[in-house]
Amino acid sequence: MSAPDTQFAIHPDVAQASTPPAWLYRPGPIQARIRDRVLGGWQWLADEPDVPAPTGVLPATLLPGSLAEPLLVTRSNEGLRCVSNACTHRGHLVCSAPARGAQLRCPYHGRRFGLDGAFLSAPGFEGAASFPAPEDDLAQLPLAQWGPWLFTALGTPGGGGVDFETWIGPVSRRVGFLPFERAVRRPERSRRWTVDGHFALYVENYLEGLHIPFIHPGLVRTLDFGSYGHELFPSGTLQIAEAAEGELAFESPLPEGHPEAGRAIAAWYFWLFPNFMLNVYPWGVSLNRVRPLGDNRTAIDFESYVFAPELLGRGAGGDLDAVEREDELAVESVQRGLRASLWRRGRYAPEHEVGTHHFHRLLAQHLFPESS
Ligand code: FES
Ligand SMILES: [Fe+2]
Repeated sequence: MSAPDTQFAIHPDVAQASTPPAWLYRPGPIQARIRDRVLGGWQWLADEPDVPAPTGVLPATLLPGSLAEPLLVTRSNEGLRCVSNACTHRGHLVCSAPARGAQLRCPYHGRRFGLDGAFLSAPGFEGAASFPAPEDDLAQLPLAQWGPWLFTALGTPGGGGVDFETWIGPVSRRVGFLPFERAVRRPERSRRWTVDGHFALYVENYLEGLHIPFIHPGLVRTLDFGSYGHELFPSGTLQIAEAAEGELAFESPLPEGHPEAGRAIAAWYFWLFPNFMLNVYPWGVSLNRVRPLGDNRTAIDFESYVFAPELLGRGAGGDLDAVEREDELAVESVQRGLRASLWRRGRYAPEHEVGTHHFHRLLAQHLFPESS
């Protein structure tokens, strides 16, 4: 583990706190620490319908460009699992394309594994001492499902990770009544954006609505900005946007006792630490995964899942491309500003930047648990 030059903490009171120092966003040993201690939290890996049935395997890379961990999602009679795709012999990828079948066979020297990763056989290994041993099985990672989405976590050696239920629970309780089982991924609506900015800058911009009237002239017309609300969870946040008069909102009444019952909701914007967003619109869901690429470049993967196609293109989730470009320009400008030798730590707008403050608190706690 690389040692940081220095540490930072974020005051728990948003009204007193200062934002992180600029070196958090610059190349240096802190970036390896972010990879090791932050990105090992829960990550969206793949979609359940893409795993071949009734038994088979789907290769999936965990955070290409940063963790780049080669994994396999397997489906057997016992259910879904996540195992390493690096063969325990010399590391060849066991599988490079989705396939049906009941076993895995490494193409390099023919080692076989069960769909649970258990070693089965290895040609030519007669005479090898103490063989096979438990480390000849493919390593397993946790795999969790919510809706059609599969999640895994590499683990955070500094601690601070949360269990899956704590992570996803606030989403599930708030919008679990929606017909996610009918949500269909629409590949033609997928987007891959690349930004010249640190992934944390992208996340912190997402977590505040203060900038909306300034940089999103189109979006602001669809929202009732005065009622914009925030909620904080142990490992995430929710921003709640009400529709402006005459703009698209969830039509059928929300379930009885729902926190937003009786309100015209345009969108729920969930962010889950560290880099996952789930934006729920009347037409469906837009998932965003913010992927560090190194050298202060960041990719953002957008995937759309539609359960009410007749509502596409309307309301707050109508023109996502324009809003995205406006956000990216802001993030890139901040990255340039943070190179300034004259910039010191900033302050938070206490009513509007609680989400950004919460993110920074979680970042500091994961990076420097001893001082936070
Ligand atoms: S690397 Fe897989 S069998 Fe040799
Ligand atoms: Fe924005």
